Amino acid sequence: MCGIIGYTGDRDVLPVLLDGLATLEYRGYDSAGVVVITGSASPELRMVKRAGKLDQLQGVVREDDLHGTVGLGHTRWATHGQPTDRNAHPHLDQVGDLAFVHNGIIENYAELRAELEADGVSFLSETDTEVATQLLARLRRDEADLAEAVRALMRRLEGQFAFAVVDRREPDRLVAARRGAPLVLGRADGANLLASDVAGLIAHTRDVESLLDDQVAVLTPDGIEVTDVHGAPSSGQRFTVDWDITAAEKQGYPHFMLKEIHEQPQAIADTLLARTDPDGRIVLDELRFDGADLRSADKVYVVACGTSYHAGLVAKHAIEHWAGIGVEVEIASEFRYRDPILTPHTIVVAISQSGETTDTIAAAAHARDQRARVVAISNVVGSTLTREADAVLYTRAGPEIAVASTKAFTTQIAALGVLALFLAQERRKLFPEECRDQLARLEQLPELMEQVLEADGHLAELAERIARADYVMFIGRHNGVPIALEGALKLKEISYLHAEGFPAGEMKHGPIALIDSGGPVIAIATRGHVHSKVVSNIQEVKARGAEVTAIATEGDTAVKEHADHVVYVPEVHELLYPILTVLPLQAIAYHAAVLLGRDVDQPRNLAKTVTVE
Ligand code: F6R
Repeated sequence: MCGIIGYTGDRDVLPVLLDGLATLEYRGYDSAGVVVITGSASPELRMVKRAGKLDQLQGVVREDDLHGTVGLGHTRWATHGQPTDRNAHPHLDQVGDLAFVHNGIIENYAELRAELEADGVSFLSETDTEVATQLLARLRRDEADLAEAVRALMRRLEGQFAFAVVDRREPDRLVAARRGAPLVLGRADGANLLASDVAGLIAHTRDVESLLDDQVAVLTPDGIEVTDVHGAPSSGQRFTVDWDITAAEKQGYPHFMLKEIHEQPQAIADTLLARTDPDGRIVLDELRFDGADLRSADKVYVVACGTSYHAGLVAKHAIEHWAGIGVEVEIASEFRYRDPILTPHTIVVAISQSGETTDTIAAAAHARDQRARVVAISNVVGSTLTREADAVLYTRAGPEIAVASTKAFTTQIAALGVLALFLAQERRKLFPEECRDQLARLEQLPELMEQVLEADGHLAELAERIARADYVMFIGRHNGVPIALEGALKLKEISYLHAEGFPAGEMKHGPIALIDSGGPVIAIATRGHVHSKVVSNIQEVKARGAEVTAIATEGDTAVKEHADHVVYVPEVHELLYPILTVLPLQAIAYHAAVLLGRDVDQPRNLAKTVTVE
């Protein structure tokens, strides 16, 4: 969602802000702006903002006008009000003393706006941000300093947000606060910074502090002070970023998505690293549950959104099969408003790459309210979800920059596979050597993934046919269903082609009516107990004119008789196929989007981290 960057230090701030915004572009946005405090004798706020991408802003900022060492930058993903110049951030108060940038939603903004309008304040935009800005200006009149006014503002605002402010009357500082949306602080040489995520800080420092809910931070070039909303000293969660700036660069690839597709074998290997003790037993120390807890577990719920939800659907098969415990997988935004039957023995697995998805965090909180225990699976150390869960299992995918998730998905499946085996081991559903064998099979996947990724040329040709279609259907059965759903999601989100995934057995109950001559159908048809069933479903769509691409197991020559094209993946245990079969689907989506000239890494209307409901 919105990106925030702030700097106070000894350098010229404009390039810092523009570079910072460039690193945050991946979050998704539709307008951008900067504000700088200029002039030391009589400081002033100079602001430039524009609808559109960062190059629109870069085209109009004039360095000469924006000299200073303190400033804020923002990329906006519209929630209240259209993506226009006027609605872009920063927002200024009526007299131009302070400037405000914000991420998230202020839920009581209509009521606050009415109160301010009754008091004679007029508004330039339709945004909730401007309401917070004008309210802060009002509060500032009665408070000794900006930080005190910000604390007063926090006490008036409802919703989930993070924001940062500069005030020309206190020209050396940034003040920031958060509730429910991420904000990180960075200590660098001669400067201090803030950003909506670590990617914005990494060029300057690895010494990072996550601000916690209802904390207020004051940053000057000399230090950072954190308090709670009442002014009592407090501190966020401090950590050192262990990934390099190059991990957030394209390294010769034309797009982050392609780079991340190719990083998957290494990411899986990293995620599986050191998961056994010297006796070969699976150890997940970070889970902090003992064997008795896991043996008494009555049910597992998995809650997540989008691609992470699909990873949960894949894991259901592995957990039920290996650990012999029932698993329900639910979309987090639905779960949070339902009355699920949970007990203190229920394990709720909340999956989120970013760890900042509002609905998933709320679903986890909903589960904890009912005394269920929450295990977070996340890729971001110290993210909100991980702080609020009872236990955390990290994927080790490294930063995922492209909006379309790839390496996060496969590493989530790998982490969930280890969790399934750990549950099986502790619940004594599998013998230790069986767990070890299965883990060894998981550990072979990176090498097999490399083989699949090397066969990319063929997929580019297939993508050319797909890119010409009006509608693309993905079908599968068993753990091929989530891969069909994921293949369709990947294609639609980056190519804007209409694509849907279905359980192949459901085709006859409606979706087969969509098939007409030459319409592409992609079928997950790897070996396993439902293979012959999928082959029958392929024949049914073929008979109605579909052009079928089968994703099949190497050596399965019979499938060629029924499909127009076959993409082979190496043979693995049936439960492990999803990590291989999704790879060609990611590549097809990528190539189709490139052919259609789409913005692959930042597709329209989407944000990387969805910090609003
Ligand atoms: C699709 C995609 C999204 C995310 C979803 C959840 O490619 O990336 O569907 O999977 O927004 O995000 P996280 O995992 O960060 O909670």
